[in-house]
Amino acid sequence: MSNENDQWHSRVLETNIGFFGGLTAIAILIGGLVEIVPMYTVSANQPENAELVAPYTPLQLAGRDIYVREGCYNCHSQMVRPMRAETMRYGEWSRAAEYVHDRPFQLGSRRIGPDLQRVGGKYPDGWHYEHMRDPRSTSPGSVMPPYPWLLTATIEPDDVAATMRALDRVGESYSDADITNVAQLLNAEGSAIVAHLSDAGITASADTEIVALIAYLQRLGTDADVAIHGAAALTPEAP
Ligand code: HEC
Repeated sequence: MSNENDQWHSRVLETNIGFFGGLTAIAILIGGLVEIVPMYTVSANQPENAELVAPYTPLQLAGRDIYVREGCYNCHSQMVRPMRAETMRYGEWSRAAEYVHDRPFQLGSRRIGPDLQRVGGKYPDGWHYEHMRDPRSTSPGSVMPPYPWLLTATIEPDDVAATMRALDRVGESYSDADITNVAQLLNAEGSAIVAHLSDAGITASADTEIVALIAYLQRLGTDADVAIHGAAALTPEAP
């Protein structure tokens, strides 16, 4: 009676390490091709209209750095997948062009909280202020931690200028004038948000971290139109 372990594959394959290694390499290569080729050939994967997506403004950049520092990506993804349940909940699925200015990207891999890619414009600025101060004040039962220090900590224009310079070096385009005038740009953008907050009865200072974070959160997802429809989305419709 033949030994149960004496199968053809153990004789032919597993005892010939070189041959088996070669077959393994071929299997891995096929797996790689199946993943990589569609990335370049399927047009929906190409970042169409990427050149029309505006870079982050200085205040949005500052807010983005806070988002990274606080580890918001541990609980929030920024990618709406092309499936019905996702698009019904969050809106348009994410297009590649929406990420062209994301260095590093914030796709995230966990969703303890909802996806944030389409959160821009979903809530007024005052909602975000209260939500970051105490998530349970706006969302009863929320497990999101409070971030009260953002209300008082301030952003440093020099730090934002350094971020702009670094991004410029890796291919973003921030002009020297923008970098030199970063303090004014931050203040102008921050003041608009402070005005919205004041309408909601909240007193905030334009240079606080919360204001920068709100600027970033309100930007999220607002590039979908231009990524999908191209230049047509930028020209106002004729009356
Ligand atoms: C421990 C996980 C956790 C962390 C960390 C976390 N969140 Fe959340 N977040 C949640 C949960 C859960 C919700 C849903 C309940 C709620 O609205 O608070 C949520 C909701 C939100 C919403 C509202 C989304 C919507 O569409 O209603 C925003 C905006 C948000 N978080 C921003 C942030 C930011 C910015 C940070 C980092 C400073 C952060 N979160 C960190 C868990 C988290």
